[in-house]
Amino acid sequence: MEIPNNTIERKDFLKQVGLGFGAIMLMNCLQGCGETEIPDPNPGSNTGKVDFTIDISNPTYGNLQTKGGFVIVANQKVIIARTQADSWIAVSSVCTHEGTPIGYRAATNDFRCPNHGAEFTATGAVQKGPAATALKKYNVTFTANTNTLRVFE
Ligand code: FES
Repeated sequence: MEIPNNTIERKDFLKQVGLGFGAIMLMNCLQGCGETEIPDPNPGSNTGKVDFTIDISNPTYGNLQTKGGFVIVANQKVIIARTQADSWIAVSSVCTHEGTPIGYRAATNDFRCPNHGAEFTATGAVQKGPAATALKKYNVTFTANTNTLRVFE
């Protein structure tokens, strides 16, 4: 009786496992690399209304130390931008089309969603679809002597 030769060679097995592991690591990187989301500055204090304070001298918010920089504060779902004119903008970071985190464009002082290209003005109004609803805009106050920003409704 002949035994079918359907066993896998050791080196072929290792090659397949290695490819699978590499693919998993690549997927993790694609999902996680390049994100600029910042952890919640006041974890546990989320009462449903946005109202938080950050110290922009903290390296976590280092992007705000430069005009034209921005950060996304995770859990608060807020994007904070420092304009080229040195003023502050805070709006919801969640694209009103399908929820992708948006980015700030300093050169045009507006926001753009990388997913389908929706654009929002500095006040959160839609300037280009497919989004049809404005972003929620928040108030921002800056206290120079403590280097702190308060973002609130
Ligand atoms: S999710 Fe932002 S444009 Fe579609």
